[in-house]
Amino acid sequence: MRISVAILCALVAVQVALLAAPAEANELTVGYYAKKCKGVENIIKWHVIKALKQNRRTGAALVRLLFHDCFVRGCDASVLLDASYENPRPEKGAPVNIGLAAFDLLEEIKAAVEKRCPGVVSCSDILIYAARDAGSILSNGHVHFDVPAGRLDGFVSNADEAQKELPDSTFTVQQLIDNFAAKNFTIEELVILSGAHSIGAGHCSSFTGRLTAPPEQITPAYRDLLNYKCHQGPDPDVVNNIRDEDYATVARFMPGFVSRVRKISDFMDNTYYHNSLAKIVTFNSDWQLLTHTEARSKVHEYADNATLWDVDFGDSMVKLSKLPMPAGSKGEIRTKCSSINHRLY
Ligand code: HEM
Repeated sequence: MRISVAILCALVAVQVALLAAPAEANELTVGYYAKKCKGVENIIKWHVIKALKQNRRTGAALVRLLFHDCFVRGCDASVLLDASYENPRPEKGAPVNIGLAAFDLLEEIKAAVEKRCPGVVSCSDILIYAARDAGSILSNGHVHFDVPAGRLDGFVSNADEAQKELPDSTFTVQQLIDNFAAKNFTIEELVILSGAHSIGAGHCSSFTGRLTAPPEQITPAYRDLLNYKCHQGPDPDVVNNIRDEDYATVARFMPGFVSRVRKISDFMDNTYYHNSLAKIVTFNSDWQLLTHTEARSKVHEYADNATLWDVDFGDSMVKLSKLPMPAGSKGEIRTKCSSINHRLY
């Protein structure tokens, strides 16, 4: 009996030791795992390349996941947690998180990394590395940045908090500006990061207002195209960028755009800004940027300068990736990204 109590105490002590305070943003370092888990960045990249060869949309999902993780409680992989008995409504279940994907890929990567270095690499770091690699692949290497690492995975994940912290596509430009300012992001950075909508897709329920918006807000032919697409099933998803649309649909609704349709989809670049100025963007939040003087001038600037956007987007992604967990939070290295480690207390 005495021995089992002693063992239990020892296990609790080990468990407590494994709970740590997360590194401050300025303590994150590039090459953090160079000695702790040699080659981890290559393992992650290998899996991302493999996944994107099968489906480039997975890359869009990873880029969005970084944003949705980091804007809620900082970058702590809280968005990756599944519902559980103790926590039936994690972030994943928030309406604003509709369409999030790539969870299986991240779990696959985590398993491979655990095999190489058990208990060393956090899911939050894996997510940032994977999003970085996805951005690089989807932009043909034009968007690239170094990832400072050393994050821990959090214990808290709450759907209401995600709903409150993340911007909604129905927001006005002022609501978008306020939402980003709350995380210390400028109007310019709001415009830069919105450029991620050159890739991926959205559900029709995410842009219902656009289906009846007036011509000052959306090009009527594009509105007709979206209406047609949205009548193809119950809440289907529609690509964000007209050039990723199928040729027949573009030929039918916007014949002047057929030359833009690409065989390879989801190419990340500054076309979002061209689409914005042509009023052929899906979300109300995209269009809203044109209604604000400073934001609109930034849209023009990035439409005119593709290279500038590549660089500034990389910098803004790094800034996003440094959003810290709330002060006083504890973290751990999860064994699986979808659940917190089993606790002994
Ligand atoms: C400015 C405020 C933003 C709003 C209101 C917004 C809203 C949305 C919505 C409604 C969707 C479609 C969800 C669905 O219906 O499935 C979406 C997709 C997407 N968003 Fe945003 N977003 C914003 C900013 C960002 C940022 C900052 C990033 C990344 C840096 C981002 C990256 C993406 C990507 C890549 C997709 C496509 C995802 C996929 O195809 O799986 N968004 N966004």
